[in-house]
Amino acid sequence: MSIFMDEARGLVTLQTKHSSYQMKRDPDGLLLHTYYGSRIHSGDDMSHAIARVGRGFSGSLTVNGTERPGWSEDVLPLEYSCFGVGDYRASALKVRHKDGSRAVSLRVRDWTVQKGKYALKGLPALYAAPSEADTLLVRMEDPYSGLAVELQYGVVEELDLVTRAARIINRGKTKLWLEKAASLSVDWQFGEFDWISFHGRHTMERIPERQPVRHGIQSIGTVRGTSSHHYNPFSILCTPQTTETQGLCFGVSLVYSGEFLMELERDQANQTRLVCGIHPDDFCWELKPGESFQTPEVLLFCSDRGFDRLSQCTHRAIRDHICRGIWKRQDRPVLINNWEATYFDFTGDKLIGIAREAAALGIELFVMDDGWFGKRDNDHAGLGDWFPNEKKLGCSLRELGEKITETGMQFGIWFEPEAVNKDSDLYRAHPEWAVQIPGRDPNLSRDQLVLDFSNRAVQDYLIARITEILSKAPISYVKWDMNRSICDKYSTALDAAHQGEFAHRYVLGLYRVLDTLTTAFPEVLFEGCSGGGGRFDAGMLYYMPQIWCSDNTDAINRLSIQYGSSFGYPISAMGSHVSAVPNHQTGRITPFATRAAVAMAGTFGYELDIRKLSEDEKEQIRSQIRSFRRFYPLIQRGDYHRLSTPEDLCIAWSFTDPAPQCSEAVIQAVQLRLESNGVPIHLYPVGLHPEGIYELAICNAGCEDRPLRRIAGISGAALMQGGVTLPVPQEEYHAWTLLLKKNGICAD
Ligand code: DGJ
Repeated sequence: MSIFMDEARGLVTLQTKHSSYQMKRDPDGLLLHTYYGSRIHSGDDMSHAIARVGRGFSGSLTVNGTERPGWSEDVLPLEYSCFGVGDYRASALKVRHKDGSRAVSLRVRDWTVQKGKYALKGLPALYAAPSEADTLLVRMEDPYSGLAVELQYGVVEELDLVTRAARIINRGKTKLWLEKAASLSVDWQFGEFDWISFHGRHTMERIPERQPVRHGIQSIGTVRGTSSHHYNPFSILCTPQTTETQGLCFGVSLVYSGEFLMELERDQANQTRLVCGIHPDDFCWELKPGESFQTPEVLLFCSDRGFDRLSQCTHRAIRDHICRGIWKRQDRPVLINNWEATYFDFTGDKLIGIAREAAALGIELFVMDDGWFGKRDNDHAGLGDWFPNEKKLGCSLRELGEKITETGMQFGIWFEPEAVNKDSDLYRAHPEWAVQIPGRDPNLSRDQLVLDFSNRAVQDYLIARITEILSKAPISYVKWDMNRSICDKYSTALDAAHQGEFAHRYVLGLYRVLDTLTTAFPEVLFEGCSGGGGRFDAGMLYYMPQIWCSDNTDAINRLSIQYGSSFGYPISAMGSHVSAVPNHQTGRITPFATRAAVAMAGTFGYELDIRKLSEDEKEQIRSQIRSFRRFYPLIQRGDYHRLSTPEDLCIAWSFTDPAPQCSEAVIQAVQLRLESNGVPIHLYPVGLHPEGIYELAICNAGCEDRPLRRIAGISGAALMQGGVTLPVPQEEYHAWTLLLKKNGICAD
């Protein structure tokens, strides 16, 4: 059991392998947050560190008219902060009552502990076997209004992970409105922190930005309807000294695909508060007596050995406890997607031609992207009309699928179910299904509107359409795209009093559709996409194990995008393809081998017109696929390590066989810039067995069978401490592969 209760002292300590999380009930029932950090003893009551200091303009907790001097909700570290009763910092819960007042004071009623991990109805959440996790439920109540909150905690010891969510229940006699219902707040009483968030834009997602947590509130979030390209719902709080391999850090991953807000506040007493959950700007939820509201879940990771260990935990949690279905373990196919090869300009024959060539080179799955349905020859029309365009394809979808599968490949297909063009039969039949405000000209984006996924009729229609298509053709893969941010939010299915529920109901509707389809077609591999990485979050990964990382396929830009993504998400989740040069997004020319090396730090596939390649390039594809398959167990299931930062001249990463074996490793490196009289690049491998004796082969990427240099009989300690020197590169963007194999253990 990882949860330790000390009823006498009102103390609850959640213990993971290397971290502890503690809360304490004070004599008046207030729930204090007393500790979160490196592991301590479960009996260590960390409330000793709370300073009982009265602060001007921070009123004291008052019970039955009597002040508790020096005990102020404005400075006390609290477990779930509420708005309106003297805590002036960022709050987790804001409630409007029928009389218009907006105050909630929560007091602990009781708590229970269960084996196994709680589940959330209608929302994605981490799952675990009963032996792997424990649950703590803390029930709290507002003595004045009857509002109750159940704080939900899951503890996964092995992953240094505490999950949190909250269920808010109206046990009162009158309606109330939730104006903010965050999943959590966490207070750190002491310490200086940096915050690393991952910002970006379309085709340039998840760029890390590290800045000190300063006084005031810093936040990231989105009101775009989706988790967005612009701010990812994963961030890291760390001490200023923390590096890849040293120091304390916390990962915060919101398991949600919609509008979110993550706030960090450094307060008057230099304490740091984190609040995370649904964005309140676009949220107002009515709770009638007896009704409850479930917040999404947050995964909290703690590492006291830097970002590397943090990422091992975030990767395993998402790979093994968020992703589900057969594709969680099954090897994913190497795919070819026709988007950058043809865009809308294709026929069935052209696709079959690409598929034949691709099959001959060892590619396993052919994906037909946008343009196969309705009147869809450009992006101005047809979205919503999910009926195959047989004239364009030259046959039925089933026949096309059969022709593709006859080549020996599997067949996959693109959908954008959440969108509609005004120029579509669906829009003409159901304009009321599009998200727009009556009497107001809606903002168009890519000439499309969003379908109202908060409306059950819309959900059911799309479930039926997609089910029919997936049932009638031999389809083994679906790319689920979503190509705009949502605005003009309004649902014809909600009355005026409930429009504030639209944004969250949209996400719940999306989850229902995804759950229904992935349950009905468990053998189909679903890949998420939102103009690339516009909805790259743990919520989507619950339904689909991989997401197209970015619409940017430039290998050099991808180094940064995949680097940023790797802090919170595993390599097995990152859709990554080799594309043509000059690259369609940047115009850059990079070596073929480099493009393949970068795509291998992902799910690996191709997105180019393979018919236009030279025989030499085709031969390279065969060899790239052989290398990928050889490295696959390490890439998809091993430990991933960042060996450089984006500022370095050479970007490097590695995959290692996890401890204690550490029997092999693959390191890949790409030289970003050439310099005259260049200094040698030195890499420091991590994740090796210090006493292991390794054989090292340094190769040009793509030539893993012909090493440039071999070093035999060197210890893991020597490699990790002393490093490895790369040859001086002769071409821009050159890539190397370093192979390490352990063949013994040091005697001394
Ligand atoms: C955006 C996606 O990210 C692309 O890969 C492609 O599928 C297009 N949409 C098609 O419209």
